[in-house]
Amino acid sequence: MSNKHTISEIRHQLSLLLASYQTVNEEIEGAGITDDAKSLLRNSNLNLNQLLDDLDMNISPSLKNRKVFIQFAMRIEAEPVLNRLNAKQIYPEWSKGLPFLIYEAHFETLDLVIGIAGVDPKHDVDSIGSVPAAVLAQLAIANLGPKLIINAGTCGGFQSKDHQIGDVMIGTDYVAFHHRRINIPKMDEYGVGKYPVCDSSQLRKTLELKSGIVTTGDALDCSKEDEAFIKANGGTLKEMEGAGIGWVCSLSKTPLLPLKTVTDFVDHPADTAEQFFANYKVSVEHLTKDLVRVLQYLSANPKDQVWIRSV
Ligand code: ADE
Repeated sequence: MSNKHTISEIRHQLSLLLASYQTVNEEIEGAGITDDAKSLLRNSNLNLNQLLDDLDMNISPSLKNRKVFIQFAMRIEAEPVLNRLNAKQIYPEWSKGLPFLIYEAHFETLDLVIGIAGVDPKHDVDSIGSVPAAVLAQLAIANLGPKLIINAGTCGGFQSKDHQIGDVMIGTDYVAFHHRRINIPKMDEYGVGKYPVCDSSQLRKTLELKSGIVTTGDALDCSKEDEAFIKANGGTLKEMEGAGIGWVCSLSKTPLLPLKTVTDFVDHPADTAEQFFANYKVSVEHLTKDLVRVLQYLSANPKDQVWIRSV
């Protein structure tokens, strides 16, 4: 095995170990173990984090750059970015037999892998929605160990919130489901999910980007029940992938940065699909421009809180 593969494998094993330490850390509060044992576990967690950073930044030249996974649902959302980044399609073993389209690109100090949900083989359309999104994100996490996942794409906004078509917004706080209604104690909260996203406060301030709360459902339209869930959870950016990706990111503590552009208004009488097709080109142009600005910021700020795993 080459040196490069050995280091990648060690890195992969370390990140798995770190994820399990972090889970244990969350569970030890209140558990019947001594304070010494608790502090040992916390220190191991910190040391492992440091070791991973050292490996990435210093030891292996091939892993010196930070790996960022950028995930899209639709090909038309991703195409301008792929061109702008001069991305090359790759065919990794882990996506074999699946519709996902995978590209790689290098941007300043970042190694980028771009994943698109791809074409559903049965229906011959883009595989939008939370199920393909979660599968793709999990495969990327397990096989690439990205330092950050950017979920980029389109969303519905709200006229009542003063959104404009083509606004580019960062998702803050959490990503939640608005269609999983389960009227059973505790399962109701499980249905909504509310998975944390990374702390983008400095990035938003520097780039003067707007923000909102992403909520996800597997429908393009918005039922009365969906609307009530969106309102109850402070949602302002309605889309179809974020919370699925948020769920898998929360399992491995991978930081998630949602970046969405408004193509339509949820609180407008016109048909959502008609609004989407009338506006997506301009909105995706804006998204591409701001995604590049975000990448420039990330490359220049390797110590920003965006990179810190949410626990
Ligand atoms: N993507 C773009 N607009 C959307 C909307 N209104 N709902 C869900 N996903 C979307």
